[in-house]
Amino acid sequence: LANGLGLTPQMGWNSWNHFQCNIDEKVIKETADALVSTGLAKLGYIYVNIELLFLTFPDDCWAEIHRDDNGNLLPRNSTFPSGIKGVADYVQSKGLKLGIYSDSGYYTCSRTMPGSLGHEEQDAKTFASWGVDYLKYDNCYNDGTKPTVRYPVMTRALMKAGRPIFFSLCEWGDLHPALWGSKVGNSWRTTNDIADNWASMISRIDANDVYADYARPGGWNDPDMLEVGNGGMTNDEYIAHFSLWAISKAPLILGCDVRNMTKETFDIVSNKEVIAVNQDRLGVQGKKVRMEGDIENWAGPLSGYRFALVLLNLGPVRRSITSLWEDIGIPENSVVVARDVWEHKTLKTRFVGNLTATVPSHGCKMFVLKPIA
Ligand code: DGJ
Repeated sequence: LANGLGLTPQMGWNSWNHFQCNIDEKVIKETADALVSTGLAKLGYIYVNIELLFLTFPDDCWAEIHRDDNGNLLPRNSTFPSGIKGVADYVQSKGLKLGIYSDSGYYTCSRTMPGSLGHEEQDAKTFASWGVDYLKYDNCYNDGTKPTVRYPVMTRALMKAGRPIFFSLCEWGDLHPALWGSKVGNSWRTTNDIADNWASMISRIDANDVYADYARPGGWNDPDMLEVGNGGMTNDEYIAHFSLWAISKAPLILGCDVRNMTKETFDIVSNKEVIAVNQDRLGVQGKKVRMEGDIENWAGPLSGYRFALVLLNLGPVRRSITSLWEDIGIPENSVVVARDVWEHKTLKTRFVGNLTATVPSHGCKMFVLKPIA
């Protein structure tokens, strides 16, 4: 969407994966504090380069079920006593940005608050008046018309609202939003909801991969938010999850409780080298370039004539995996320096034609390759 936003994939946090409807102002404010105190805010800020670090909240469940007499949305008084404006002021005072959630139907998915269908302009103005920076827009309880009819109404409303608002389309990939999303939003969900397990995570990134060619600065494929730190996968699986999202230029929206992260979780989501792959200014989505049984190679170009590579092991035992230059798009005879971005080590070996590494079960190795000759 040509609103100047999303020049790299959005980074931030969203309450849904961990908290669902159990959110209140306190959780949100404490999360903002935690993002700052852990250094994550600063990490995102540095690598995004254009200051786009989004605190996306609250997903579903933040408003009263009824609008006021003039049809305006009402933040739920019991859980958001300061109103959204008050929370936005707080979050923005920390240098973060505020995101909110609505729906292109009559109700949001939890059916606990109204959707924006028929109220698009009014709601967009309300969001802008509260200082909202980001809107995630869901697809539940709609009127049966196509998303290609309903979503652009909100796009136009946001464009007129007088404030740049990142627009995240959440129609779950139903009508191939990659094909029409770039004029409508800054990112579009390519899949149904992720769950906190290996099979779900892999199926989401595979479905997302189909649309790789449609991603570009200003509009990104979204295989759903991160589950890293929510407890359903092993550490190696979470490393693979984060690596695949990074190389696929997926939004890096944390879905765990950042107030209570373990060191393992923090080490994954704060890996500057992996974040840099995701936020690389070239903005080209990496793809699955080879699959053979349980092993896969994912690769994509980066700025400065570099390449990102993920060697993925879907199988039950440790495996040696080879990647060929011809699959990655590197001339066959090139001499390549490889940086292991999880070990934070530049390998001493110079590689010609291919690279082989040992990869744990349900895990990956991730490299940044630089041809030097
Ligand atoms: C469906 C979306 O896909 C989820 O990410 C989440 O926003 C829920 N709706 C909330 O009800």
